[in-house]
Amino acid sequence: MSAHVPYIAVSAFDIIALVLVIGPLATTLWVLPKEARNAFQARLWRFTGAALAALTLSSITLLVGRTLEMSRQGLSEVAHWLPLVLRETPFGRVWLVRPIMLLLAWAAWYIGRNLERRRVAASFLFAAAAVIAFTRSATGHPADQGSWTLPEWVDWIHLVAVSVWAGVVFTMSVAVFPRLPQARISPSVRANLITRLSSVATVALIGILITGILSAYYYVGTWTALRDSSYGHVLLVKLAFVAVAVALGAVNRFLFVPPIRAAVSTPAGHGTTAHDHGERPLRLLMRSVGTEALFLLAALAAAAVLLHGMPPREMDHVIGGTMAQGPRADHPARARRVTVRRLDTHQPRLRHLISTVCYGVLSPRAAPPGDLYRPRESAIRASL
Ligand code: HEM
Repeated sequence: MSAHVPYIAVSAFDIIALVLVIGPLATTLWVLPKEARNAFQARLWRFTGAALAALTLSSITLLVGRTLEMSRQGLSEVAHWLPLVLRETPFGRVWLVRPIMLLLAWAAWYIGRNLERRRVAASFLFAAAAVIAFTRSATGHPADQGSWTLPEWVDWIHLVAVSVWAGVVFTMSVAVFPRLPQARISPSVRANLITRLSSVATVALIGILITGILSAYYYVGTWTALRDSSYGHVLLVKLAFVAVAVALGAVNRFLFVPPIRAAVSTPAGHGTTAHDHGERPLRLLMRSVGTEALFLLAALAAAAVLLHGMPPREMDHVIGGTMAQGPRADHPARARRVTVRRLDTHQPRLRHLISTVCYGVLSPRAAPPGDLYRPRESAIRASL
């Protein structure tokens, strides 16, 4: 586990950067009512720019991190291995989509500095970020079963919905709520803003729960596996953080939003500045959203750990592959399910399995889908 820590940190950085890009975009597009745009849009756009810079950096870090992970060499060797990884591995080929999307995203950000084009630019930027999210799904556990498979799409929807929920919550906590008291918006606009925040979070949460449960069933499968595997334990920790965040979201929606909205219907609520009505529930809501953001951050970190674990279902495949060494050619269907993607570098117990793969006991016919063991990539490993 400790050998994985730097790679987990790199994944966490990349996921959080993505969330921070999608958050202000979703806030601009769906949370801010028209009447509140002037008060916050410039700040949100600067925030988007900073997050985009973080995502650019995290994309480079991710490439370097994966190169180190695959080559098992030090940083000084990275320049040698990097072109090879980009050219010869499925990860490298998918990663190459990122610079293109980042360029488009920066162009959209630049164009969006003009207020009139801001919403169109935000939509383009959102689309580019969504494609970058797909590069994560296409190089993670879902890709072990091949390209463009259902698990990849499910994971992608999960990641985008997660980015919307967590991103909007972060953005509100960091960029909008601290400015709300000074913003000259009426209580009715403020109530509208809070209601929209709650609705966007609810829709995203529904998507997250459905796709999360589907992925969990796909990777874990049984209650026993959930209870007995370390992957299952990490998932349970993550779900504990998620449960607290969901509970806080429910408290916001059912306890704090109604009095904020109700304050608007009193005669004094119309046309006055924001801070004389529904003040107390608003303060409580802002504090609660801030706490929710912290638990979501913890859930994101737990997700990064999950990505570097071995799902119980994949573990079955590995065991199947190990035992199938002799008669493998007679059982191509079993051999096709062998997975060694992350075992190679850090699990000495299983190195013999990697050797088996690298030196060709696995016939090309029996190689698993997804180009994992293309001869060139095997050659990289074999030459180490
Ligand atoms: C019912 C609730 C949820 C369940 C059952 C669930 C389950 C899962 C599973 C099984 C995976 C696949 C991990 C892998 O590839 O090995 C995953 C990925 C992930 N989950 Fe969740 N999740 C849930 C909610 C959430 C929430 C609320 C967040 C946000 C804070 C979150 C953040 C993530 C992230 C960032 C990934 C990684 C996606 C990627 O990079 O491809 N999940 N989740």
